Amino acid sequence: MTATQESATIAAADSAVFHRRPGDPYPVFVRGEGCELFDRRGRRYLDLSSGMAWAASLGQGNREIAEVMGRQAATLTYIHNAWASTDRQEELAARLVALAPAGFARAMFTSGGSESNELALRIARQYHLARGDSSRWKIVSLEHSYHGATIGALSMTGKVNVNEMITTDYAPYLIPFPKVPAPITFRGPWSGLEPEEAARRAAAAIEERFLAEGPETIAAFIAEPIMGNAGMTVPPDGYLRAAREVCDRHGVLFIADEVMTGAGRTGTFLRVQALGVVPDMVIMAKAISGGYAPLGAVLLHARVADALMAAHKRLDHVHTYSGQPVQCAVGLTVLDILERDGLVAQVAARGAFLRAHLADELAGCPWVGDIRGAGLADAVEYVADPVTRAAFPVEKNLAGQVWEGMLDRGYILPTGRYLGSDLIGDFSLLAPPFIISEAEIREAVAALKETLTAVAGAW
Ligand SMILES: Cc1ncc(COP(=O)(O)O)c(C=O)c1O
Repeated sequence: MTATQESATIAAADSAVFHRRPGDPYPVFVRGEGCELFDRRGRRYLDLSSGMAWAASLGQGNREIAEVMGRQAATLTYIHNAWASTDRQEELAARLVALAPAGFARAMFTSGGSESNELALRIARQYHLARGDSSRWKIVSLEHSYHGATIGALSMTGKVNVNEMITTDYAPYLIPFPKVPAPITFRGPWSGLEPEEAARRAAAAIEERFLAEGPETIAAFIAEPIMGNAGMTVPPDGYLRAAREVCDRHGVLFIADEVMTGAGRTGTFLRVQALGVVPDMVIMAKAISGGYAPLGAVLLHARVADALMAAHKRLDHVHTYSGQPVQCAVGLTVLDILERDGLVAQVAARGAFLRAHLADELAGCPWVGDIRGAGLADAVEYVADPVTRAAFPVEKNLAGQVWEGMLDRGYILPTGRYLGSDLIGDFSLLAPPFIISEAEIREAVAALKETLTAVAGAW
């Protein structure tokens, strides 16, 4: 059977698309406007996820961006950026470097987050080679982290979702990069500590690992300033600064993966700017193009770029669609809109409003164990017991029920259950477009309260 126009969803089994989850129905959307999506039946959904991947940060159907794309495609369509440049690419690199912390000097473009992390891996290795240090190759990363789907990025990824095979089945293909415990403080050995002490111990774990591996073998340390895939884990204050110091002590590059947090999502252009940390490389994707074009970037501090340039080495790492004019024109327009409309400050304010409103409205719900985040990168984590913070048994499928309950009510709210670790339970991720209004936030929180009450009632 093929799905008809009347059906709002398509079953994976009925589709010519090889969908990732064979047993699941997939909602089929036909149109979007701002924070709203419409399915085949014309039903409206409020999107609390920026297109389910935190990318559509300026909402759907932005005419200004669409027109820029059309004009750019009609003016200069494609040119390979290993052999030539374009005005749009030059302009976007200059704008991004100017928006990054002081000392950042260059940008290199890709088609997304995984590609950017792959590129950063090569740049880290080339940086050490350029300085005559060929022993450094390992990239140390955090358990529970996500850095992308390609083999290098997946090798840095610390998320181990046993049943969903994110890394486990591919172990034979992966580079054995060392992992250190993530700075999770809601549960686990660092819960209950003062933030400074938790940060100190979590950073000490990085240094212990460097020493155990032999610091002379380590090229870089990579971390997400907020760990989106780990239920928006926000490291304790001071953690990334302490991690930076550990890296400095051992000649290790520090890479901030801001694929999810960057381009305004957390209420500053980059999350590291709110933390007072200056990395060696910053990885961007997602909101940098508002989801309108596949665009990723690696921003390079001068100390890295200069070392590579001084060595006069060609960095032969390129993809066909790196730094294309349409992608870069989109990136420039996104930056124009963020600046003109004051959206980064608006994200900070709306995020604070969202978390405060969640805390007020869900105060009576004993399942709500934690509300965390920065800007519009937020999460609610659910607990079976508010005192012990024990997670619900996986079989309860709380995450699935909250997702379905919200979808039935017309809200797109990704909800997950971390399967490879008992440090994280069921959570909902709130990362709406930057243009979400306070009225829409109120509406969404009311729906979440209703959904949680209904799920609890059914139990
Ligand atoms: C922190 C982080 N890094 C990398 C990636 C991979 O990006 P992409 O899916 O664009 O390859 C993601 C995607 O969710 C991410 O959240």
